[in-house]
Amino acid sequence: MFVRRVARRNRQAMPDMSEALIGVLRQSPTRASPLRGESSSPVPVDGDSRLPLLTIVHQGADAEQPILAEEVMRSLQQIVDERGASERLAAADLSPARTVLFVGPPGVGKTMAATWIAARLSLPLVILDLATVMSSLLGKTGTNLRHAIDYAKQRPCVLLLDELDAIAKRRDDDRDVGELKRLVTVLLQQIDDWPAGAGLVIGATNHAELLDPAVWRRFDVSVGFPLPGPDQRRDAILRFAAEPLPVSVIELALTASKGQSYNDIERVTMQLRRRSVLDNVPLEDLMLKHWGQVVQGLPRAERLQVATTLAEAGTLSQRQISSMTGVSRDTIRGFAQEKSTTSR
Ligand SMILES: Nc1ncnc2c1ncn2[C@@H]1O[C@H](COP(=O)(O)OP(=O)(O)OP(=O)(O)O)[C@@H](O)[C@H]1O
Ligand SMILES: [Mg+2]
Repeated sequence: MFVRRVARRNRQAMPDMSEALIGVLRQSPTRASPLRGESSSPVPVDGDSRLPLLTIVHQGADAEQPILAEEVMRSLQQIVDERGASERLAAADLSPARTVLFVGPPGVGKTMAATWIAARLSLPLVILDLATVMSSLLGKTGTNLRHAIDYAKQRPCVLLLDELDAIAKRRDDDRDVGELKRLVTVLLQQIDDWPAGAGLVIGATNHAELLDPAVWRRFDVSVGFPLPGPDQRRDAILRFAAEPLPVSVIELALTASKGQSYNDIERVTMQLRRRSVLDNVPLEDLMLKHWGQVVQGLPRAERLQVATTLAEAGTLSQRQISSMTGVSRDTIRGFAQEKSTTSR
């Protein structure tokens, strides 16, 4: 509307521009504006709350690639590649994977990977959060599920069934087992009926073990998303810090962040970056302090381990490592000597 107004107002003063704008408006709503298709059939809503059952994400081709271990990334790439090679696959009597299950703890990039895949396939990502659907009245859930999935079926998209375990979890605190069984059946039918040539269904869950084996088996491929290893943590620290850091700081941060998710590391780093701007203090100082404190809070056995890792990395002096980990310099020197004799 705004562009049209600009075009009209300037018809006299700038006829060429005005004409060009009108031209763009005539063309664009058909293909270039993906929103148009959706406005013709509104996103389904919960009958009672009127809250939308689906979230639709249009991600440009520049969707950020998640940092992932090589084998995980390879699985994701294959999903994308298969879609691009459906004819070759068909010639061999095969079809691209239709349904994929992502399994892993919170904050390791399952949703992000689904967004990335959708972007690579130039498809919108339609997210059905099962935790939200399950919180509606049980009797309504089946209807809601069916409406939501039907909606996704009608357009090329990647459908993300987020928090699949919500269905399983509900079973613990609900008496109505029969109704839940019916729900699982609805879900399975919907997955089974998913048209082969259409989009892709991605299920995401934190607890594969909670899922009904019947649901599990429905997925063509299952991809495990582990917590980040040291290499991925290093990449994550650098990406989130968005500035070069001394090797010693990176080494400390990646050692101290063992067991944390990408999301944990991101939140801490962003907070430190904000602090760095507020106080006008270099980020590396704040990182050294933060991750140093994390190490201090660890039990002695783990501090010993951190000290060894840092000593092996060889980027901090033994004195620095000692003051950071509370492990005596003698002990650290012992490690270093042991290390050098064994490697000799
Ligand atoms: N592998 C990754 N690479 C880069 N950033 C990541 C990665 N994983 C998580 N993040 C960061 O953490 C945020 C949350 O991640 P995401 O929503 O993908 O996690 P999830 O695995 O879907 O978790 P949940 O099980 O809680 O839904 C992302 O938006 C991103 O900023
Ligand atoms: Mg998620």
